[in-house]
Amino acid sequence: MKVLDYINEEEIKKNINYYKELFLQEKIIGIDKFDAYVLDSNGRKKISESVNDFIEKLADCSEREVVITSGNQHLGQDRLSPEDPESDHVSFSSYNIHSDISEVAEPHLTICRLIGMVMDIFTCGPENGKTFFLDREKMFEDTPEHIREWMKQIHIVGRIGEKNHYLYKSLDWNGKIWPLRTMPGIITHPVTGINNFAFSSKKFTVIADDLSLESEYRDFVNSYLSDNNNWITWEWKEGRCIIWDNVNLLHTYSSGWLDDQRVFTRLQGGFITPFYETGLND
Ligand SMILES: [Fe+2]
Repeated sequence: MKVLDYINEEEIKKNINYYKELFLQEKIIGIDKFDAYVLDSNGRKKISESVNDFIEKLADCSEREVVITSGNQHLGQDRLSPEDPESDHVSFSSYNIHSDISEVAEPHLTICRLIGMVMDIFTCGPENGKTFFLDREKMFEDTPEHIREWMKQIHIVGRIGEKNHYLYKSLDWNGKIWPLRTMPGIITHPVTGINNFAFSSKKFTVIADDLSLESEYRDFVNSYLSDNNNWITWEWKEGRCIIWDNVNLLHTYSSGWLDDQRVFTRLQGGFITPFYETGLND
């Protein structure tokens, strides 16, 4: 992760190619002070148009749609038990591990490369509401060789959340109606060609002709995701921003705030249909 002190409209326009390269190398860019707002006709702050170019350039995918939504909150974040705050933080974060779905027409087919958060309101304590990241290229490298071989023939099916996607409901593996997305067990990065360990959320099923290693695979996933050494921590303050590559990273967040204490603008850009082909780290 690279953390920058400051970014504004002028800086974005001047050094956009530098940021594109930085994003490719670092996968995560943190910014202490994201100052790329303008005032709309009602005198309210909104993200400057130059941020659209910034997201599009950094995302660098053939489907280059940019989506910026303000006023985002997460739900369930007040689930912090006073008796044992530490363990509850851990189980909450673990439960929420995921890669993001896309706010596009066919979310069961696509994932978004670039996701960003700009923290507009943050009034909870610095120990709460952190975001955590895990590198799935490193996870794939750390996977035992025989499991990596086996993963070449699997697909995983994950739930995508029902918030916006009523059109794509289908029966899941428990017979429940839920929108699903399918992806290969290994995903090749569309820009770098580096393979990573596909993972959408903890609720998933595996489809394959050969399911013989599924339990070993699941054991590896569980132990890898529960090892703190594999996670990078980002702490929030108002005005901070983070941008990450959603094709090769997982993220989650810790609990401990009320809805209106942690409100952010969400940035998305560069949509891909996940694919697998022999990659640089096969
Ligand atoms: Fe997310």
